[in-house]
Amino acid sequence: SKKAVWGPLVGAVDQGTSSTRFLVFNSKTAELLSHHQVEIKQEFPREGWVEQDPKEILHSVYECIEKTCEKLGQLNIDISNIKAIGVSNQRETTVVWDKITGEPLYNAVVWLDLRTQSTVESLSKRIPGNNNFVKSKTGLPLSTYFSAVKLHWLLDNVRKVQKAVEDKRALFGTIDSWLIWSLTGGVSGGVHCTDVTNASRTMLFNIHSLEWDKQLCDFFGIPMEILPHVRSSSEIYGLMKAGALEGVPISGCLGDQSAALVGQMCFQIGQAKNTYGTGCFLLCNTGHKCVFSDHGLLTTVAYKLGRDKPVYYALEGSVAIAGAVVRWLRDNLGIIKTSEEIEKLAKEVGTSYGCYFVPAFSGLYAPYWEPSARGIICGLTQFTNKCHIAFAALEAVCFQTREILDAMNRDCGIPLSHLQVDGGMTSNKILMQLQADILCIPVVKPSMPETTALGAAMAAGAAEGVNVWSLEPDDLSAVTMERFEPQINAEESEIRYSTWKKAVMKSMGWVT
Ligand code: G3P
Repeated sequence: SKKAVWGPLVGAVDQGTSSTRFLVFNSKTAELLSHHQVEIKQEFPREGWVEQDPKEILHSVYECIEKTCEKLGQLNIDISNIKAIGVSNQRETTVVWDKITGEPLYNAVVWLDLRTQSTVESLSKRIPGNNNFVKSKTGLPLSTYFSAVKLHWLLDNVRKVQKAVEDKRALFGTIDSWLIWSLTGGVSGGVHCTDVTNASRTMLFNIHSLEWDKQLCDFFGIPMEILPHVRSSSEIYGLMKAGALEGVPISGCLGDQSAALVGQMCFQIGQAKNTYGTGCFLLCNTGHKCVFSDHGLLTTVAYKLGRDKPVYYALEGSVAIAGAVVRWLRDNLGIIKTSEEIEKLAKEVGTSYGCYFVPAFSGLYAPYWEPSARGIICGLTQFTNKCHIAFAALEAVCFQTREILDAMNRDCGIPLSHLQVDGGMTSNKILMQLQADILCIPVVKPSMPETTALGAAMAAGAAEGVNVWSLEPDDLSAVTMERFEPQINAEESEIRYSTWKKAVMKSMGWVT
């Protein structure tokens, strides 16, 4: 049958910690036309360790691209209209591979992984000069969260990695680099690059000069020749070498939280978004200025949308466990069969009945940065049932967001009047209402929740040489929003929040 006529389309890979997606948007209207999603396995080989298979991740990307193209075919949409592809990805997760064989030399060490806790402790004792050495250059605290220590561990502990470095065959990358290298040809000419946003999460990148930092590489013992080339977030990196979209340029690359900031159109100073994925990340655009936090937030590169375009920075509140707590209730406790079921359980009771759940599975991130914390459920009575625990898990996500919002408000001076949200969990209406209640400000959600992918598609479509997406504010399509207004009084909210803080204190110092 005759194919319908479409304007230029743009595809986006959204490679998150829990799943991979490929989505295709109309570049003129930002309308989502089709998508496909595949869940990604997580391995926990030892307590505190979190790994993923880089090849499974790569295959999931190909599978999502192929399935989405099939679905577009069924909609009578010609895939030759896809003019560019953007990549957004879980950040910090570390891969080392052999450039001659294309084989990963170890599993991907996931951002949540805690194996480097002792490395962090010993490194922090030998920080050169003042204690600010890492933070002033990178915007980050010395923590297990970031790539440098994961890479340090791989170089120290994996013989295959050491050998490949000696033989000059090793390449390091975060997930964006691994994917772009593989998708643009891998062993036969793959492009080894990353973008400024992903680079800013490695703890090896100087966020002022926008270059890898020799002093940091020496400090972490990282050979600079294995690092990818750092590019802007919007330029042609290379062409797809295989599959249904062979020949299409990959021209956008952003860490997923930066991509969501772009997808939520937070281009002005002071605009912020909170994304509920595996973790939960609140980013506030601070313009061309690096703002350093006094309240446990990170300073990070927000985006640089073109080689000659200026860099934007953000303050970030990072929460390690959000959606992951729902997956834990599903996979480890088995009290729900699907993630969506949590809403039903929580709705049955409408309260946690005094039960508080601090899901500090990977220690606590912002604002505490406390690796010794572990998860606790407290306030249990014989009355407590699985519905209360489900409710407490959702409430935990909201309380953690309140903690980072409070820190953000203190750092910025001007409190946010509402919270722009996105991500998988935002389809849970109970969660959204609870969030508004606990923050005492409205929560606002775009009707198209795939803002991470949208941001990556925008960057790809706007790249020089592609030019099918305009980022000029006038051209931004009006986005319809859903609003959740606070429904409980501030006093009640305050009481719950202070009990949560008591629970947080109990979760700390669990491991020494
Ligand atoms: O920093 C980690 C973050 O990028 C992971 O995002 O969406 O998998 O929770 P997500």
